[in-house]
Amino acid sequence: MTKTIRDWFASYNLLIFDEIDSTNDEARRLVEEGVAGDFIVWSKKQLKGKGRYGRQWISPEGNLYLSILLAQPIESSLAAQLSFVTAVAAGEALSSIVGADRIGYKWPNDVLLNGKKLAGILLESQSVASSTVLDFLVIGIGINIKNFPEGTDYPATSMQAEGAVSIINDQMLDIFMQHFCYWRKQWQERGFELIREMWLERAINRGQVITVNTPNERLSGVFETLQADGSLELKLAGGQVCKIASGEVYF
Ligand code: BTN
Repeated sequence: MTKTIRDWFASYNLLIFDEIDSTNDEARRLVEEGVAGDFIVWSKKQLKGKGRYGRQWISPEGNLYLSILLAQPIESSLAAQLSFVTAVAAGEALSSIVGADRIGYKWPNDVLLNGKKLAGILLESQSVASSTVLDFLVIGIGINIKNFPEGTDYPATSMQAEGAVSIINDQMLDIFMQHFCYWRKQWQERGFELIREMWLERAINRGQVITVNTPNERLSGVFETLQADGSLELKLAGGQVCKIASGEVYF
């Protein structure tokens, strides 16, 4: 493991691993050790990479695997907003490399290249029961630079597979973190509305019928908008408007 500091994110401690089980798990271990301040855990490969809903995130060498640990207490209502800050930062970073018209967002936090999943985000946190304040927040992001998994429910891709300019992991980390620092600051100073608008600008299938698998049911309806708390607004066939806090979207 190497520990280093780069100017553009001097306020973050950067930990670099050749391989690790999961950068999110390492971030959680840092919390258990009682670290103070924000950390970035970056690994060249993961042996037990985690995706949303307990899925595996296959993590061979060549892609970006990164977790940002915000170790200070944070209001739980802000966590969802930060996941959109991260998606917008990734989308803007990737747009600067592959061209803005090829990048899209799929609710809640997937970043798509040419309509296929290029990056995923996994938030993990912990709080004392009934508290609205999280003890810490881990934002994990994986960006498929070279490899992508075959046979996923929703088609995936990599920058290399889409013929994007060749970029190495190291450069991708730099570009992503520059954008993350910038958009985190914008969000802190100007609030969520700007992030929400940025996200909506590139949201795919807005105004069209989509299907959402929520933890309890499967719903189909018109994707109306993203609400101020990060929920998806869906208009069902009968005209009823539904607010969905978590789920998986299919087109
Ligand atoms: C998703 O299912 O779309 C979320 C995938 C998140 C993957 C990243 S890779 C870095 C971090 N460490 C993990 O184990 N998962 C996240």
